[in-house]
Amino acid sequence: MIKRETIEEIENACRIEEVVGDFVHLSKRGVNFIGLCPFHNEKTPSFIVSPAKGIYKCFGCGKAGGSIQFVMEHEHYSYVEALRYLAQKYGIQVEETAPSPEALQQLNEQEALYAVSEFAAQFFQQMLLETSEGRSIGLSYFHERGFSDETIEKFRLGYSPADRSALIHAALKNGYTTENLEKAGLITVLQTEEGEKKSDRFHERVMFPVQNFSGRVIAFGGRTLRSNDKKIAKYVNSPETEIYHKSDTLYGIFQAKNAIRKADKCLLVEGYADVISMHQAGIENVVASSGTSLTTNQIRLIKKLTNEVTVIYDGDDAGIHASERAVGMMLKEGMQVRIVTLPPEDDPDTFARAHGMQEILDYIALNEKDFLRFRIARFQQQPDNSDPLKRATFINAVAADIALIPDMITVSVFVKQCCEMLNMPENVLLAAVNKIRAKNYIEARKRAEGLPEDKTEVAEEADALTVALPKESQELEKQGFLTAAEVERNILFHLVNYGFKEIHVEEEGEEPQVMRVDSYIFREMERDRLQMENSLYLRFYQHYHQMWEEDVTTVSEKLSGSFTEDDLYGLYTSLLDVKPMPSPLWKNRRSYIHTIDDRNTDLLREDVRHVLQTYRLLQLRKLKADFSEQLKAETQDEDAMILLYKIQKINKVINAIEQQLGVIYR
Ligand code: CTP
Ligand code: MN
Repeated sequence: MIKRETIEEIENACRIEEVVGDFVHLSKRGVNFIGLCPFHNEKTPSFIVSPAKGIYKCFGCGKAGGSIQFVMEHEHYSYVEALRYLAQKYGIQVEETAPSPEALQQLNEQEALYAVSEFAAQFFQQMLLETSEGRSIGLSYFHERGFSDETIEKFRLGYSPADRSALIHAALKNGYTTENLEKAGLITVLQTEEGEKKSDRFHERVMFPVQNFSGRVIAFGGRTLRSNDKKIAKYVNSPETEIYHKSDTLYGIFQAKNAIRKADKCLLVEGYADVISMHQAGIENVVASSGTSLTTNQIRLIKKLTNEVTVIYDGDDAGIHASERAVGMMLKEGMQVRIVTLPPEDDPDTFARAHGMQEILDYIALNEKDFLRFRIARFQQQPDNSDPLKRATFINAVAADIALIPDMITVSVFVKQCCEMLNMPENVLLAAVNKIRAKNYIEARKRAEGLPEDKTEVAEEADALTVALPKESQELEKQGFLTAAEVERNILFHLVNYGFKEIHVEEEGEEPQVMRVDSYIFREMERDRLQMENSLYLRFYQHYHQMWEEDVTTVSEKLSGSFTEDDLYGLYTSLLDVKPMPSPLWKNRRSYIHTIDDRNTDLLREDVRHVLQTYRLLQLRKLKADFSEQLKAETQDEDAMILLYKIQKINKVINAIEQQLGVIYR
């Protein structure tokens, strides 16, 4: 833990214009400075630095804060890392309070592994550049591959000598322990009959250090130069250690992070050589998954920087296969995924070496396809693609991919695109997608919350509804007093504005189906024999219902011209409003910030259900009040029993609905 005093000293020392000025070109503008925002792409400066206030603010993207925040944001440092960086910049001695012995030990252990890894990186660099073995074997190899000295330095490439104890010796001489060398994965310990035999994990290989987000060396990959010898693995990699978790790491992220954010796009390749050759060609927003399939944590690492990923994998089948797996995971994280296929004989490395920067960028721009176009193009290249079974299987697979996308607007765009390309009706695919989405959704909830399998439908719905409501609006609802008329108005609001929209309905004991909102509302109202009380609202409801019965397909377009009475038309225009409801009930609901066209249909369904349930609840309460009055006046035991029984039954339903809505109405 850094001492409070030290933090204050750092805060006092920081001059925002100096801190920011290290990364952004600033010009003086009155008392402030102005520059191009480093957090988003812009051509005219809207990034202001105020020395007086000690803050920066971008009027373009809204990013704002003080010195520490700037460093955290810009370098993707943690708070402590940012403090250390600033302390170093201003020559401040960092004083630390004593952490608990256990914490200290763990911290020290990790620090020790970072330290020995850093030592090894420097050692391998030195071997590469300063020994004749390294220069003649390693350095000449890198040069042959076209890596410049600058690139070699940038990626801290190195060489591990043939001598299997070169690193151990050097490390021990410099005070590092074999224990830590082993824990850092740098040496292997073999139990033999003569006792333990320790040797360097990496020998006679060119070395690629793996750096984490903030640039610390955490692991290595070593490539053999005896590529003809099939008995030798092409790459030896560090094992998992306390500081290296392969599935959380992307090769090149440290060198690429600023470029990724600037370009608002990340190129994803497969190997060390691919990343380095792309950098050397001048394209720096590149990272590698290092030969394994992408993990969720790796995707989230990219997501800190951008939402757009273009996968550039080798044109061979294995490459395409790997990219398809990665794509599904990225879609699920809400990322925009595109795929570029290189000419079959190329990988990103050879391609980058053979072409200039502009050529590469042009090739990507010209050839990148969003995942859907990519998959469909591949399917259409197959010879037997008209076979009905093949086609159905393929469409299902596409539906499963689309169903992973969290954003409904994007989903509908893809559905539309896909149906155009495959020449099929939209509702078929949409129904398939919705079905999978609903299933995924329920499964995810169950997994996330460890819900028991037997949890009732109602309780599950209740959970879903509670999630959809922000805290403060739940509070409002608890206090809220709702009249039947307000709810009726709300039902009409949904008919007028969203009646034609299709929602995915799945009631207990029913086949899931896609239904228009108006049809759904009418069905529910009729099932429960609910009738509007407010006479104006009732007339409007009946008017709409009649048009709906006459021709469901034209009701929305004809509605506005269908009124002959002023009061109905007046009501119609007042309902034609996307702004929140007059009641506080719906005011803060997330869904109402959308405009009509981009309403998320899942939220829409929840809203409609919510409204109808509320209406049911109010009606049931009235019914209960009526029965209670009757009960008081009842003199016949038998009839009183029946009334009591009815009230109890109503109570049960009321309780279920209240629980489902997560609120108690008065
Ligand atoms: N890889 C590995 N172990 C192997 C082979 C590959 O860890 N035996 C990983 C490495 O991270 C490598 C990536 O998979 O960078 C891609 O493999 P490949 O294309 O074979 O390696 P390149 O890096 O392209 O190496 P080169 O071009 O030098 O052959
Ligand atoms: Mn290669």
